Amino acid sequence: MDKSSVFSRHWSPADMPDQAGKTAIVTGASSGLGLVVAEQLAAHGARVVMAVRDPAKGERVRAEIVSAHPAARLEVEHVDLADLHSVARFAQRLSADMDHVDLLINNAGIGGGPRRLSPQGFELTWATDFLGPFALTGRLLPLLERASNARIVTVGSNLYKRISVELPLNDPAAAHSYSAPKAYVAAKLADLLFAVELERRLSANNSGVRSLAAHPDVANTPMQKSASSLPERIAARALSLTLGRSPEVAAIPLLFAATAPEAPAGKFLGPGFGKRDRRVHADAVVAPADDRELARRLWVSGETLTDVTFPLVAVSATPSPTT
Ligand SMILES: NC(=O)c1ccc[n+]([C@@H]2O[C@H](COP(=O)([O-])OP(=O)(O)OC[C@H]3O[C@@H](n4cnc5c(N)ncnc54)[C@H](OP(=O)(O)O)[C@@H]3O)[C@@H](O)[C@H]2O)c1
Repeated sequence: MDKSSVFSRHWSPADMPDQAGKTAIVTGASSGLGLVVAEQLAAHGARVVMAVRDPAKGERVRAEIVSAHPAARLEVEHVDLADLHSVARFAQRLSADMDHVDLLINNAGIGGGPRRLSPQGFELTWATDFLGPFALTGRLLPLLERASNARIVTVGSNLYKRISVELPLNDPAAAHSYSAPKAYVAAKLADLLFAVELERRLSANNSGVRSLAAHPDVANTPMQKSASSLPERIAARALSLTLGRSPEVAAIPLLFAATAPEAPAGKFLGPGFGKRDRRVHADAVVAPADDRELARRLWVSGETLTDVTFPLVAVSATPSPTT
């Protein structure tokens, strides 16, 4: 077992508890890991809202899932996570339609590409992978609070341990410097800092909602082919050949985080290192994702840029000394 693993479990979707009566929102359900998560949750009885940027593609995927699982209950809803107005409209529609949400899976993401700006003028990876999910989570928190034992699962990446990056807190448009791989790793580091800080705040506010973080390690999904430069494409191909898992296998830690009663918050749930290890590992969150002051600054920046304030009091960034 990896030194930082707190526990590991053999788990597969066959072990998933019945999800009947639960409502799940899965972002990016039209491809890769999100598709597998949506399919498995629906196959186990959940009502699944596929939150997608391309509704026609979402409908095609929904039809494929329903043909494999005729009883599956899935709806396709449009949201462009890069656009904060779209996120606000989506959350408003859900709040009008639903009295509670049991599961929010913050899965959608993009993997870099050339520097582009979101409708609000933020660098697109930062907007899609961090600001959009941050705003969506804050806006859906009242619906999640109305469920018993709701969970939020945010999908990060283990790259945060391997590549050193700075969060673009002072330059969210990447006007001064931009590198696609670093923009991606910074956004995924932000997702992990956010998931862990959210769990601290939920727990300090005696909320029944839990925030969990999960990752697939390397998954052979369309994202692996999205690199814009030739060296990045070669690196992604090599990684995918040596370490890549199928989307079905790579999504297991996400499904475990969403549904296993024993899944812990405050850890990073993912596969073991190497394709043969089929267990789900709960790893300790290590530097720089364990930096509470960085998480606090990220939170302030998230609330300021998205104009979404979470109804949760902050926890002191300095843990109180144990006596
Ligand atoms: N693949 C890996 O090795 C790997 C490793 C670590 C972490 N992850 C994370 O896993 C998550 C899922 O990625 P994946 O590998 O399954 O990649 P993927 O197949 O490319 O799926 C990404 C999903 O996000 C959606 N999306 C992109 N931009 C969006 C936007 N602006 N608004 C709404 N939805 C948007 C995509 O929509 P379309 O279907 O329209 O393209 C797609 O459904 C991501 O958060 C990624 O960072 C992946």
